[in-house]
Amino acid sequence: MCELKIPNHLAIIMDGNGRWATKLGKKRSYGHLEGSKTLEDLAVYSMKLGVKVLSVYAFSTDNFKRSEEEVNYLMNLFIKLFKTKLNKILDNNIKIVFSGRKEPLNKNVLDAMEEITEKTKNNNNGILNICLNYGGQEEIVDGVIRVINDIESGKISKNDLNKDLFSKYLYQDLPPIDLLIRTSGEYRVSNFMLYQMSYSELYFTDVLFPDFNEKELDKAIESYNKRDRRFGNAK
Ligand code: IPE
Ligand code: IPE
Ligand code: MG
Repeated sequence: MCELKIPNHLAIIMDGNGRWATKLGKKRSYGHLEGSKTLEDLAVYSMKLGVKVLSVYAFSTDNFKRSEEEVNYLMNLFIKLFKTKLNKILDNNIKIVFSGRKEPLNKNVLDAMEEITEKTKNNNNGILNICLNYGGQEEIVDGVIRVINDIESGKISKNDLNKDLFSKYLYQDLPPIDLLIRTSGEYRVSNFMLYQMSYSELYFTDVLFPDFNEKELDKAIESYNKRDRRFGNAK
């Protein structure tokens, strides 16, 4: 059998935590806690397979519309994870970066994000890009503002701008997404990495995120291996 192609940049919309917990008669927060364990295992497993960048959607700008109780739970979970947990990620030499807006995240969350970014900055066994307070349209708008600033200050000229240069103005300078997975049976992208997914292969599964284990990732990668990526070309 020929060798499996592994996506260089894998992205996951980690959806269905709430429904997973509700099905068990528990609070939605329990689903988020279990989802965070799934994420840790998946990050380690992805890098083992040879993925170079794993981007995950942890909290969207629109998730602030949720109840105060749920938002607070998630923010405290992030703080706990970044400050004291994620040991498997640290042990596996994975570098963590973040994408998203700082506003209106509180100082404790921002400090925890900075702490883990600093702690893992020299790690070289793959990158985990955590999209937190993230919106794809917001990322493009924020990039445009930075481009305008650089044009106005003379750092770049309007004529220099092209799609590759623009990608350097996004939150992180990452390669394009090869495979985008969304769990929980929803068929939409919910404002996730719009610029980076231009030619991504899409994989949708009914599995709720806390149940999306290594075997499920294997299935997604098998499906990816059956795709014929043409990038606009003809055969
Ligand atoms: C995804 O799971 C995690 C976040 C959005 C933070 P959900 O919380 O959206 O779970 P469902 O979709 O309501 O089941
Ligand atoms: C997308 O899931 C955001 C994350 C997974 C963090 P949502 O559950 O917020 O998306 P919608 O509301 O179903 O589109
Ligand atoms: Mg959801």
